[in-house]
Amino acid sequence: MYWQHAAFTWIHVVGAALWVGPQVYLATGWPGAARQIADTATKVEVIRVLTLRFAYLGGFGLLLLAGAGTFLIWTWRDYYAQPGEVGFWELRYGVVFTVKMAALAVMLAITALHMFVVGPRQLEAMAAEGRGEPGAEERLARTRRQSRMLSGTGLLLALAIMGMGAALSTASWSMQEW
Ligand code: HEM
Repeated sequence: MYWQHAAFTWIHVVGAALWVGPQVYLATGWPGAARQIADTATKVEVIRVLTLRFAYLGGFGLLLLAGAGTFLIWTWRDYYAQPGEVGFWELRYGVVFTVKMAALAVMLAITALHMFVVGPRQLEAMAAEGRGEPGAEERLARTRRQSRMLSGTGLLLALAIMGMGAALSTASWSMQEW
């Protein structure tokens, strides 16, 4: 039981690293790299490739998180030796877990909005600006602001979710009643 818990926690943490790591790297490394690419069409293509790779890597991370997380929540009573008569939400564990899942839903919605709506609009505005189309510069500035807001909020939520995970696994705190 202990080794299973350790193994699935490991998978969970690897998933979190794959999800959060590339986001931090893109946020810190990409702006400087992008400035080195003068040709807009090339920049657009590089962004397409990078974001697609992130979708694969981060998506795989999310699968690991969900799979291992499901095991961890499925087995919590056995692992923490909690008798069935103690209600899930009577413990800090149940409440924090529920808040964590709600934060996860918001984070996923923000990621989807970024990936499927704002991101493509931003790329389209960038390509239009490269072609010198009128109004494209303002569109690009607007979508860039939206994009930064979404990625920043998504990243902060991911960090908060990780914090809640750490609180859950701190049994001396999480197994107390509120
Ligand atoms: C379906 C989604 C998820 C489920 C069901 C889930 C479930 C859990 C559970 C039950 C724990 C506590 C394990 C214990 O009692 O020791 C935990 C810990 C944790 N979770 Fe999640 N989680 C999910 C998504 C996420 C996401 C998206 C992240 C990161 C962005 C994350 C990061 C963490 C971290 C860092 C821990 C602490 C691991 C440790 O003990 O070192 N989880 N998760």
